[in-house]
Amino acid sequence: MENKVVVITGGSSGAGEALAYKFSKEGFNIVIGGTNTERLKKVKSKIESIGTKCKFLVHDISNQKDVKKMVDLTIKSFGRLDVLICNAGISYRSVFEHINLDVFEKLFKINFFGSIYSVKYSIPYLIKSKGSIIAISSLNGFIATPTRSAYVSSKHAMQGFFDSIRLELKNKGVHVMVASPGYFESNFRKNTLKSDGNKEGSSSRDEKGMMSTEVLADKIFMGYKSKNRDLIFTFRGKLAHLIKNWFPKLADRLSYNEILNERESLLKDY
Ligand SMILES: NC(=O)c1ccc[n+]([C@@H]2O[C@H](COP(=O)([O-])OP(=O)(O)OC[C@H]3O[C@@H](n4cnc5c(N)ncnc54)[C@H](OP(=O)(O)O)[C@@H]3O)[C@@H](O)[C@H]2O)c1
Repeated sequence: MENKVVVITGGSSGAGEALAYKFSKEGFNIVIGGTNTERLKKVKSKIESIGTKCKFLVHDISNQKDVKKMVDLTIKSFGRLDVLICNAGISYRSVFEHINLDVFEKLFKINFFGSIYSVKYSIPYLIKSKGSIIAISSLNGFIATPTRSAYVSSKHAMQGFFDSIRLELKNKGVHVMVASPGYFESNFRKNTLKSDGNKEGSSSRDEKGMMSTEVLADKIFMGYKSKNRDLIFTFRGKLAHLIKNWFPKLADRLSYNEILNERESLLKDY
């Protein structure tokens, strides 16, 4: 039987990399995108050692033409597309008063428009395969945190977009799942942008004890197989969802204190 094909944006690192290995172990051929050629090559060779095929594309997910190239490469190489995972994302830590609007816009183009373009170019093939779209959102898709307004609004926008297209695609047989992880171990916080647009370079949190990307990828794969609508991973995450919906003022207080207590919190002097 022909192998199924998954496209993973941001497949060079963190969650995207772990998802690439997981789907490969489950027999999928893989297409990954990212900006770091060396890391993409490394992931490709590990996938090939697992035993399935991998194509990669060095591109900018915030560029429409680059995203079309990713889907074109997929169809040219494998002739089908079964699962699209919109995973590429960055964060930006700044109080809004000090925000650089160009950086805010850059983040939105990567996190939100990167997902929109990926879905737009993939839709005909996903309808044909009656496939799945998996959005890697965040607890910030429904819970606000201070000093992360760009990130939070991009993930809220993703939530609204994927909830809308789920309704449209229902009768076409395409499954849409929004995965909303809490903190997990990756380079994400090191890559988070500062007010001036440079990377933080170190994590604002203690990464020990966070969920590993391997566990995360296993759970996402299970959610995909069960055709889940949403995926909130931990008891803490589920509790946060409940508190946000039923006790929003308490959610505000908890969220404020969480950020106030992180390393070099920007709230301390604000
Ligand atoms: N880590 C967490 O605690 C956490 C929690 C909740 C949600 N999430 C979400 O999980 C997703 C994956 O993050 P991660 O933690 O795995 O972070 P990560 O290790 O920093 O990976 C981010 C991925 O996005 C790619 N990317 C960034 N900018 C890009 C661009 N302009 N064009 C193409 N690819 C680009 C990166 O590729 P290059 O490195 O090759 O540029 C990398 O593969 C994100 O959407 C994030 O919002 C993370």
